[in-house]
Amino acid sequence: IERTLVLIKPDGVRRGLTGEILRRIEAKGYALAALTLRSADDELLAAHYAEHEGKPFYAPLVEFMKSGPVVAAVVEGHRVIEGFRSLAGATDPTGALPGTIRGDLGRDWGLKVQQNLVHGSDSPESAVREIGLWFPGS
Ligand code: GTP
Ligand code: MG
Repeated sequence: IERTLVLIKPDGVRRGLTGEILRRIEAKGYALAALTLRSADDELLAAHYAEHEGKPFYAPLVEFMKSGPVVAAVVEGHRVIEGFRSLAGATDPTGALPGTIRGDLGRDWGLKVQQNLVHGSDSPESAVREIGLWFPGS
């Protein structure tokens, strides 16, 4: 069975949307295989966002991700990688379709970074790598 790493980013936790976001994941039929609330440090975020190093939004993204606790979850189900990204919606919450997590619950807050509530792995390789980073020993 496929697995993906889902993060509820600090904006989602801060706004009290953890329950609503987990509800949508469970209502879709996916299963939670692991769940934790933790703070991310530079080392973890550098590894997690290695593909974005050097891009203009990298530094604000890392600062944002350190601005508060993050909920990390391993979510399980057939085609869950594609399915969760569909639930999440487009990266930019302003244009994300209504019906999606980002489209229904997110917006532009005028900051340098896209505060878009959630992260989901984008491929099976990313999922394995990211689950290993956030849940070492799993
Ligand atoms: P994740 O699920 O968080 O990985 O989102 P994504 O796969 O839709 O986006 P991507 O991996 O390309 O970028 C990771 C994160 O960097 C995004 O979720 C945004 O928070 C931020 N980001 C990506 N592209 C931009 C951009 O062009 N401008 C800004 N300000 N932030 C960006
Ligand atoms: Mg991504």
